[in-house]
Amino acid sequence: MTMKVRIDPERCQGHGRCYDLAPGLFGEDDEGYGTVLGDGLVPGGAEKDARLAAANCPERAIDVSEE
Ligand code: F3S
Repeated sequence: MTMKVRIDPERCQGHGRCYDLAPGLFGEDDEGYGTVLGDGLVPGGAEKDARLAAANCPERAIDVSEE
């Protein structure tokens, strides 16, 4: 099972919870909007961080999918 994170740029308002809570998965752009590091694939052991970030985004801009 592969977990992947995405940020919907239409929804992100730059609250920064994602990169504060899960800096291994998310970064920020020049204006403080969240970005997904690399291809968004969540390495083993970081699944909890991915879910935590998604649950704490006030705009519900983070999508976590499992394939
Ligand atoms: Fe944006 Fe949500 Fe992160 S609003 S900066 S995706 S916490």
